[in-house]
Amino acid sequence: MRCAAGGPVPGPDHRSVIRADVRLASAPEGKRAALAVPLVKMSKVNKSFGANHVLHDIDLAVDAGEVVVLIGPSGSGKSTLCRTINRLEPIDSGDILVDGHPLPDEGRALAQLRADVGMVFQQFNLFAHLTILDNVTLGPVRVRRVAKREARDQAMALLERVGIADKAGRRPAELSGGQQQRAAIARALAMRPKLMLFDEPTSALDPEMISEVLDVMLDLAAEGMTMIVVTHEMGFARSAARRVVFLDEGRVVEVAAPAEFFAHPRSERARDFVSKILSH
Ligand SMILES: Nc1ncnc2c1ncn2[C@@H]1O[C@H](COP(=O)(O)OP(=O)(O)OP(=O)(O)O)[C@@H](O)[C@H]1O
Ligand SMILES: [Mg+2]
Repeated sequence: MRCAAGGPVPGPDHRSVIRADVRLASAPEGKRAALAVPLVKMSKVNKSFGANHVLHDIDLAVDAGEVVVLIGPSGSGKSTLCRTINRLEPIDSGDILVDGHPLPDEGRALAQLRADVGMVFQQFNLFAHLTILDNVTLGPVRVRRVAKREARDQAMALLERVGIADKAGRRPAELSGGQQQRAAIARALAMRPKLMLFDEPTSALDPEMISEVLDVMLDLAAEGMTMIVVTHEMGFARSAARRVVFLDEGRVVEVAAPAEFFAHPRSERARDFVSKILSH
C-alpha cells in the first residue's frame, strides 16, 4: 500500500506554538507582517457539553501546507476539536484564528468560513437524492456563486482526479463506500478550501477501500493542501504528516514527528495507546 511504503515524506519538524510565538515576538517591527501566520491558530480553547469538559486549554498552530494527524482514544475530543475549527461547535473560551481572522459568529461570513474549511466525515454525508455530480456542484453554485457550467466542468475534473468520473451520474447509494468517500472529498475540494479537516475518513470502510481513499489524501498532501486528519492509519501519518498530535481527555498530551511518536511515545498514556493500535 502506497501510504505505508512511499509517498511524499516531509522532513520532521518540531515547530511548536511556543516557537512560532517567539519567532513573531522577536522579529523586528517592520518584518512582522512579512512572516507567515499559521493558517490555523488555536489558543487556550475550552469547550464543555454541560458538565462534560471535553477540550482543555487547547493550543495548536498549523502552518499553511502542513499535514497534522490527530490521534487519541475514543472520547478524547478529536471530533469536537475539528468541529470547532469550522464552528460546527462554538467554543466556551479561548481563540481560534483561521488565516489570521477570528471565526465569524454567523451569517455570510460564517458560510464563507465553512467554504474555506472543507470537512470530510466518517459517514460520507452526501445528499442521497442528488447525483454525485450535483453533490459536487451544489456548494460552488450556491455559496461561491460559480456559474453552473463552470461548476460542472470543475466538478468533472475533480471526479476525474479522485478516480470516479464514470460515476458522475449515479446516486450515492449506487457507489461503494470508498467511492462515496472520494466523492465527499471531491465535494469539499470543489469549494477550493484553504484547509481540509478529515474526521476518521476511512474508519467506516472495508479494508480494500481504505487505500483508495488514503491515496487521494496523500496526493492532496503532496500538492500542499493544509490538512488536519483524525486517523489511526499509521501508514498515512508516517507518509504525509509533519506532526502527530496526541489528545487524551481533551488535552494535547504529546506533539511529535510521526516516526518519533510511534517509536518512542513519551507519556504513559501515549505508550499505552500506541501499543494498542500496534497490536490491532
Ligand atoms: N454534541 C454533543 N453533545 C454532548 N456531548 C458530546 C457531543 N459531542 C461530543 N460529546 C462528548 O464529548 C466528548 C468528546 O467526544 P468526541 O466525539 O470529540 O471524541 P472523539 O475523540 O472524536 O471520539 P471517537 O474516537 O469515538 O470518535 C465525549 O465525551 C462525547 O460524549
Ligand atoms: Mg470522533
